[in-house]
Amino acid sequence: MGAGVMGSGIAQVLAISGHEVVCRDLADDVLATAREGVDTGRFGVRGAVERGKLTADEAEAALARLTFTTDLDQAVDVDLIIEAVPENLGLKVKFWRELDTLAPPDTIFASNSSGFPIAAMAAGTDRPDRFIGWHWASPAPVMKLAEIVRGPETSDATVDTVVRLAAAAGKNPVVVKDTDQSWGYVANRVYFAMVREANRVVSEGVADREQVDQLMRDCFRWPSGPYGMVAGAGSGWS
Ligand SMILES: NC(=O)c1ccc[n+]([C@@H]2O[C@H](COP(=O)([O-])OP(=O)(O)OC[C@H]3O[C@@H](n4cnc5c(N)ncnc54)[C@H](O)[C@@H]3O)[C@@H](O)[C@H]2O)c1
Repeated sequence: MGAGVMGSGIAQVLAISGHEVVCRDLADDVLATAREGVDTGRFGVRGAVERGKLTADEAEAALARLTFTTDLDQAVDVDLIIEAVPENLGLKVKFWRELDTLAPPDTIFASNSSGFPIAAMAAGTDRPDRFIGWHWASPAPVMKLAEIVRGPETSDATVDTVVRLAAAAGKNPVVVKDTDQSWGYVANRVYFAMVREANRVVSEGVADREQVDQLMRDCFRWPSGPYGMVAGAGSGWS
């Protein structure tokens, strides 16, 4: 659910992993952009073929498993729903509540929220045992992150299923506890602690943003400093 920066990449990864995937967004132009990204975009399947990560047949098969649609009904009769709509808790809760009335009772619900409490989203549904956080990183086809967030009522079976799916898709699942305060599970809590300190350094006039980014790349061999990271994540590193 959601074919933006994250949803389209997640759909691509799971289609490559062998699953039939329906990718749903609100408008045709968004879906066209998503389809193009999955096909010929910087991290799309054609590029993966050029880099020797996929065969041409595997790329074709993955594209054939992907359906892009604005039709909600077409996207709910599935085993797993992954939600990647904008990071707005009210929007997500309202959306999950609607999906709960439409999806089969056994369907697992996974949110790609960057940090909202899983319990808060699960509470909008009648399936808190089948509700889980599955936090991906951008670009989804490249990054190994699978921060699996276990809510207070998430069942062992739900955790096992999602961990298995993530591992089979080539990710490194790490199961963490839900957060019941503020925002951020583990990766973003630690990351934003660093961003806060970077902002202090800049506001004190100790260094400017470019210098902070350069120092962090050179000191820790990070591919990007904190400011470059914020810009890159928002654009999907396009
Ligand atoms: N961008 C990142 O680096 C990143 C990384 C990890 C997690 N996330 C999280 O992933 C989620 C999505 O982020 P994004 O960067 O992909 O945002 P985005 O704005 O690129 O995409 C969100 C998409 O959701 C669509 N949408 C809104 N309501 C919808 C609905 N009811 N049904 C279907 N689609 C709907 C929008 O039209 C949009 O295309 C957020 O929760 C964000 O915090 C983002």
